[in-house]
Amino acid sequence: MNPLGFKYNNGELCCDEIPISKIVNNHKTPLYIYSSNNLISSYKKLREEVNNLDVDILFALKSNSTIGIVKLLAEQGAGADIVSGGELKIAQASKIQPSKIVFSGVGKTEEEINHGIASKIKQFNVESQSELDKIISIANNLNTKVPVSLRINPDIEVDTHKKIATGSNSTKFGLPIDQAICLYQRINIEKNIKPMGLAIHIGSQIFNNLEFKTAYQSLLRVANNLREKGCKVPNLDLGGGVGVNYENFEVDFTGFGKTIYEIFKGQGYSLSIEPGRCLVANSGILIAKTIYLKRNNKKNFIIVDAAMNDFIRPTLYEANHKIALVKSSSVEKEKFDIVGPICETGDYFTKDIILPTPNENDLIVIFSVGAYGSVMSSNYNSRPPASEVMIQNQKIQLLKKSQSIEEKIKSEISHLIG
Ligand code: LLP
Repeated sequence: MNPLGFKYNNGELCCDEIPISKIVNNHKTPLYIYSSNNLISSYKKLREEVNNLDVDILFALKSNSTIGIVKLLAEQGAGADIVSGGELKIAQASKIQPSKIVFSGVGKTEEEINHGIASKIKQFNVESQSELDKIISIANNLNTKVPVSLRINPDIEVDTHKKIATGSNSTKFGLPIDQAICLYQRINIEKNIKPMGLAIHIGSQIFNNLEFKTAYQSLLRVANNLREKGCKVPNLDLGGGVGVNYENFEVDFTGFGKTIYEIFKGQGYSLSIEPGRCLVANSGILIAKTIYLKRNNKKNFIIVDAAMNDFIRPTLYEANHKIALVKSSSVEKEKFDIVGPICETGDYFTKDIILPTPNENDLIVIFSVGAYGSVMSSNYNSRPPASEVMIQNQKIQLLKKSQSIEEKIKSEISHLIG
C-alpha cells in the first residue's frame, strides 16, 4: 500500500495518475513531487475528526513552507502556526488571514514582534518571562493592545526521538506551570495586553494518545484554575505532534480527535491545533536518479543524485522512510545502502534495503517527505536545492525552481569589494 495519490500503473509509479517519468522529463532530479489530492484529503480527514468542537486548524509552517502548499491548505480553511518573521511573510504571501496566524517560538526578536503586531496576528504564544516583558514594553510604547497566550510546559516525557520531544523542563520550551499561573494573572490585568489563553506542544511524532491526554489534562487544570482566580482564558492551543507511521503511512486522526473531544467537550474553551507533519508528510515524495552502483567486500551501494542536503531526516533522526524503484522490475534482488554524493558517511537515505538491482539512470522514490523535507534542505557541498512540483487538476505545477549555483555565486560576488 502506498499513500493516497501514489500508485503503480503498468509497473510505474504515478502521482495523481501522472507517470513519474513524464514529470521528470520536464523537471530535473532530485525533485520533490506533491499530490494535491493527498494534501486536500489529509486536511479534510483531520477537519472531520475535530468538527464536533470549536477548533481552528493552524498549519505549522515549519513542516513545509513552500507557498504552493501553504496556499492550498489556506484555501481549505487552514490558518498558520509560525515561528519566525520569515514564516510570517510566507503566511501572508499564501493569503492566510492574520486573524488565523499564531506566533510561537522561544526567541522572537523585537523586530519580529513589531512585525506581528503591525500585521494584526491572532496571538503571540509567549514562552518566557523575558519575552513577556519585551512584549509588554513594546505594547506600552505603541499604546496598542497585543494578544498574548502563554505556553505551558507540563514537564512530561514523551516516547519520541529525543531531538523532537519538547514537553519536559529539561528543554527550552514553554513556562513551568507555577510560573505560567503567576504570569497569566499579570497579563490578565496588564493595560496593553489582551489575554488569549494558554498553549502547549509536547513534541512531534507522537503515536500514543495517552501522552496527548496527560498533557491536555494538565493544560485544562491550569486553565480552570486561572478561571477560578477570575482570569479571562478564552482559547486553548493544543499544539501539533500527531505521528505519521513511515512504514505503512498511517495517521491516527480519529484517535487524536477523540482525545480532544473527551477532554475539552463542554468545557467552554475555543480550541486551536497546530498540525504539521500529519497534514503534509504523506503528500510528498522525493525522486532521485541512480548515478552509479558501487560494491565492496562488505556492501553494495546505490549512489543517487539526491543527498542529505535535500532530505536530512534519515541521518539526523535515524528516520526510516519507505524507498522503492519508480519502475517495478523482476530483476534479481540484492541488499543495498542508498547514499548520496556528499562527502560524509552520514549521507545516506537507507541501509540494507532489499531491492531489484537498478541500472544507472533508474529512478528511486523516497516516500512521505512532504513534512520536514524541503524546508530542512541546504546548499551543503554547494549543491543547489531540489525543485518542487505539485500535481493539481492533472497538471504539473512548478512550485519552486531550484536556485542555481550561478545565482548564488552572483549574489555573493556582488558584496565583495574589489
Ligand atoms: N507547534 C509547535 C509549537 C511546534 O514546535 C511544532 C513542531 C508543531 C506545532 C508541529 O508539530 P508536528 O505536527 O509537525 O509534529 N524536524 C523534525 C520535527 C520538528 C518539529 C518541531 N516542532 C522532524 O523532521 O521530525
